[in-house]
Amino acid sequence: MSSRIAVVPGSFDPPTLGHLDVIRRAAALYDELHVLVVHNPDKQAMLPVAQRLSLLEESIAEAGVAGQVIVGSWSMGLLVDYARDVGAGVLVKGIRSQVDVAYESPMAIVNRHLADIETVFLLPDPAHALVSSSLVRQVAALGGDVSPFVPAPVARFLDTGARGL
Ligand code: PNS
Repeated sequence: MSSRIAVVPGSFDPPTLGHLDVIRRAAALYDELHVLVVHNPDKQAMLPVAQRLSLLEESIAEAGVAGQVIVGSWSMGLLVDYARDVGAGVLVKGIRSQVDVAYESPMAIVNRHLADIETVFLLPDPAHALVSSSLVRQVAALGGDVSPFVPAPVARFLDTGARGL
């Protein structure tokens, strides 16, 4: 496992500007970055995984993120199994608040016990500190403008393509 290869896992339902901020900064820190859409059984999904993948790919391309970024999805078991398969030694997560610390810490500890993999937490740019996918889902469902919170491809999609989902 290499500490130069990292995975940024998440539901990305939908990707937000906060996610893009973490992806951009993680891409600058590691030689190879896997941005991984993982099904979270605790959450009611809005977008199909395939849609989240294409929105992530478009958003990452449009943001001009430097470095080697691979976008994929994983539903075959533990996250650490994917990390092991691609030789990643690090998971990267964004931490916005104490709530995120409480949610992420047990997962980081379990993942380290499972596979000796480290989790690195990045603090958000303050501009994105309060943005979450669940708020974006709520605003979008009620017909509000989500463009201040999401990358342009996601805003375009939610404004047109997502109606009827
Ligand atoms: O964006 P989210 O929903 O907060 O992401 C959470 C996610 C999908 C990264 C987390 O639920 C996860 O790692 N799921 C993979 C399943 C797994 O490996 N679980 C055991 C160790 S925590």
